[in-house]
Amino acid sequence: MNITDKILELKREKNACILAHCYQNVEIDEVADFVGDSLYLSRMAAKTDADIIVFAGVFFMAQTAKIISPDKKVLLPNKNSGCVMANMINKTQLKEFKEKHPDIPVVCYVNSTAEVKALCDICCTSANAEKIIKSLNAKEVLFVPDTHLGKWSEFQLKSTKVTTYPGFCPTHLKITKEDVLSAREKYPNSKILVHPECHIEVSKLADYVGSTSGIMNYVKESDEHSFVIGTEQGVVDRLKRDYPKKELIPIKEDLVCYNMKFNTLEDIYESLLHEQHEITVEKEIADKARNCITKMLEVV
Ligand code: 13P
Ligand code: SF4
Repeated sequence: MNITDKILELKREKNACILAHCYQNVEIDEVADFVGDSLYLSRMAAKTDADIIVFAGVFFMAQTAKIISPDKKVLLPNKNSGCVMANMINKTQLKEFKEKHPDIPVVCYVNSTAEVKALCDICCTSANAEKIIKSLNAKEVLFVPDTHLGKWSEFQLKSTKVTTYPGFCPTHLKITKEDVLSAREKYPNSKILVHPECHIEVSKLADYVGSTSGIMNYVKESDEHSFVIGTEQGVVDRLKRDYPKKELIPIKEDLVCYNMKFNTLEDIYESLLHEQHEITVEKEIADKARNCITKMLEVV
């Protein structure tokens, strides 16, 4: 039996479900039950009646699944898969940030740890940040940890001041204004689509700014033929597979989140076989973090 069949058999035996983020190595889709962006996957984690969730993504995603579904066993195939941005803020840094800006609601990007979520008012993903900020009806909000998503949301909303923590995604920050301008010149008939973790100067020049699913849906729905994609390589790989007749151009080479690529089919098999790399979250932190996540799920 090949590795894919072995995983599928184990999955049936153990009533397990595999969630995979679109930045994963594309072959992982063959064993996944759900593939998508972080919002979609957290919804699926809340919905599934599997006993075990194998989360092919990075640590904060698996941790979010565990917080939403505390009675399920949640496994991270490769324990080294962390998110650089999520690790840019811990609870001490968050407390200091809040003390500097007292009495302002805090919106927490899902790319953060449970202990950070536990100290925030509401969570958001890149697919719903503006909606979540708006739902607070506040003149000002604090936004952690991604400064670029926060600034982009402020620019879009106009009416709310968004004070951001200086976190960032090193993968998306590789995309520069010059990359967009040269893509525009080289591919004048292409639509340029970027993720809101990009620098705001990049987002302002794009034709569309959206989450992973937002970008994938844009290509799916559009009558246009050619697209320049300004996000992680996994999205380009899936778009090329799904829409072979469309022209899909990565805005630059090597836009890879190496942490996302740690998970292999072998890791998935091993984690499911031995039920290893289980995610646990202290109850008190999990309860508070859950409140932050469920508030988001209620709004959207
Ligand atoms: P999505 O919310 O678009 O899945 O993004 C998650 C992420 O980590 C992007 O870098
Ligand atoms: Fe984190 Fe950036 Fe990787 Fe997304 S692409 S998981 S934000 S490091």
